[in-house]
Amino acid sequence: MSHDDFPTDDPAVVTCGLPYANGDLHIGHLRTYVGGDVYRRALERLGQETAFVSGSDMHGTPVAVNAEQEGVSPERFALDWHERYAATFPKFNVEFDNYGHTHDETNTELTQQLVRDLDEAGHLYEKEIMVAYDPVDDQFLPDRYVEGTCPYCGAHARGDECDEGCQRHLEPGEIENPESTITGNPAEYRERTHKFFEVSEFSEYLSGFLDRLEGTSNARNQPREWIEQGLQDWCITRDMDWGIDLPGENPQDLVLYVWVDAPIEYISSTKQYTDRVGADEFDWEAAWKEGASEEQPEGGEIVHVIGRDIIQHHTIFWPAMLEATDHTEPRAVMASGFVTLGGKGFSTSRDRAVWADEYLDEGFHPDPLRYYLATNGGFQQDVDFSWEKFRDRVNTELVGTVGNFLYRSLLFAHRNYDDAPIADGTSDEVEEAIEEAIEAFEAAVNDYSVRAVGDAVTDLARYGNEYIQRSEPWKLVDDDPEEAAQVIHDCVAIAKAIAVLFEPIAPEKAERLWDQLGEDGSVHEVTVEAAREGPAGDLAEPTELFEQIEDERVEALNEKLEARVAEAEDGGESDDADGGDESESGDADESDDDTTDDMTDIEPLSDDRIGFEDFQELDIRIGRIEEAEGIEGADDLLKLRVDLGAETRTIVAGLKQLHDVDDLPGTKVVVLANMEKAELFGVESNGMVLAAGEEADLLTTYGDAGPGTKVK
Ligand code: MSP
Ligand code: ZN
Repeated sequence: MSHDDFPTDDPAVVTCGLPYANGDLHIGHLRTYVGGDVYRRALERLGQETAFVSGSDMHGTPVAVNAEQEGVSPERFALDWHERYAATFPKFNVEFDNYGHTHDETNTELTQQLVRDLDEAGHLYEKEIMVAYDPVDDQFLPDRYVEGTCPYCGAHARGDECDEGCQRHLEPGEIENPESTITGNPAEYRERTHKFFEVSEFSEYLSGFLDRLEGTSNARNQPREWIEQGLQDWCITRDMDWGIDLPGENPQDLVLYVWVDAPIEYISSTKQYTDRVGADEFDWEAAWKEGASEEQPEGGEIVHVIGRDIIQHHTIFWPAMLEATDHTEPRAVMASGFVTLGGKGFSTSRDRAVWADEYLDEGFHPDPLRYYLATNGGFQQDVDFSWEKFRDRVNTELVGTVGNFLYRSLLFAHRNYDDAPIADGTSDEVEEAIEEAIEAFEAAVNDYSVRAVGDAVTDLARYGNEYIQRSEPWKLVDDDPEEAAQVIHDCVAIAKAIAVLFEPIAPEKAERLWDQLGEDGSVHEVTVEAAREGPAGDLAEPTELFEQIEDERVEALNEKLEARVAEAEDGGESDDADGGDESESGDADESDDDTTDDMTDIEPLSDDRIGFEDFQELDIRIGRIEEAEGIEGADDLLKLRVDLGAETRTIVAGLKQLHDVDDLPGTKVVVLANMEKAELFGVESNGMVLAAGEEADLLTTYGDAGPGTKVK
């Protein structure tokens, strides 16, 4: 690896955090994959030789638990998801050179080899620890198989993290009152011997590594704190069947912890790419092994693209494993912020998400979402998704700025001059503007900023609009045809530069533009150099590149989404987030994807005190339900008419599954009367009925307070 500006002479490998083969992909996941794909395409624009790899993460307890619940083998379960992911990525123009999975032969072999190497180098040791065990079912309960009480804060905790309480990572044996998540059986602790990797020995190396590391600042800075607090050694084995066997002597039949074999898939996937195309095309060993190649003695440029919840794995455990086994040190880690919904994390199990397939099923083109995900805020910032914000970005930037410039200039050019080039060359002014855009693009790549890649293009289009507006070629056609030809030639040159520079973000749209420009071959095959060359081909009749999103569309999408989010919340756990939304801790374990539902345990009481004035802002009243009926299309929701004394209001509540609808009229309820109005499945809800817990136990009164009485 070098620290020279891209492009370098060394081969680059861009990787994306592997998705757990465990459930549908949502647009939060896509931020990793779109980010990686944009970055890889941008590197190639600069002429950097790059392999782009990932694969499905097949092991770990979330997969095993879910498979068990569905009554299929973990292998079958994970392979099904793997195949779906492999088919989904290309639909978003995410084109991996190789997409493998962690359970395949290549990864099994490489993982076992790497663990043997760690052992031979003296970095592994054995230690006796207590692990949870189900005596009735006769099985050990690693990670997600066990739930109980957090020893630190008393909250309900599952497996290896206290995700509802203090967010701490829990080592095997720490959970109190352990129970099996599968059978509900109480568990006991048994002593077992496990393997540990001495991560603590690498503190000094890792400090130096972080000084050298490039990428986003969160990935470079957060881990320093963990090192300062003192690194713990890492238990790398689990009492499970599903996983890669611990190599060598293995009397207890242990498998490796999922986070051991998962990152190794980055290497395995690159190897599979080489196996397919040949080492002349791409040499995985030259990239991943220090000293393997004479030309690249320092290995390749490894760039990891991930979400911020797995920074710790990529900046502590993984580089320590690589260093201990003479593999190439990663050059950069790009860690994206989270995509949230209504400020909360996505939840796979609660259907609180915008799904990747859903976006396509709505008939949207993938490129606008790529643009939105790549350029929204900085890459590191969390993004709260809403269809309105998506519409605004598409309508103002893609349609208004980029699309508008392209359409008006190409239409004018096509009508007035069929062939390009139409002037001798591009004017100095426009040549300079294009040069600036190319420089901004190059700087963006070297800053690891996919957002700045997008900005380079929108800025150029903005300039183009201003240039055509100021030059008024439509007036010049008659007065000064030569000057008119110059302006139009310039605009076509700008359009060509846009096609070249926009390819990483909007690959399909850029290709269509390329065709409209009458350029030869494919825009995917050119480098930024092509943006410097004036336009060449015959212009085709242009069509609008991007479609406006109408307000009615957004309303319909919002209704669907809000109803789903409301149902998710009514279902109980409100903080049931995927990944690390509320946790910055980056636990060392399978922190994502909530799979075990319906926790009835008590959350710790809040330490966040509010004043009496805050309380008084809540207008809580006694109401009486007059009518209750279902809402078409909504499984859980009821439309209630509630008498609040002064008036009778319509209120939508998620009670349908939990109460007998006919029993409800006449029931007294407690209502938050000044709750914001919300529209759910086309019904406006004017207030909120209060209920307790997951069974939505309706609050009522002890005495005979009548409708409209204020609760104080
Ligand atoms: N399997 C692990 C990664 C192993 S890498 C050696 C994992 N899987 S995941 O399915 O939970 O996440 C896949 C990728 O999506 C990760 O990069 C993760 O950070 C990212 N994201 C998952 N949910 C996300 C959001 N809501 N928002 C942004 N990124 C998110 O972690
Ligand atoms: Zn806790």
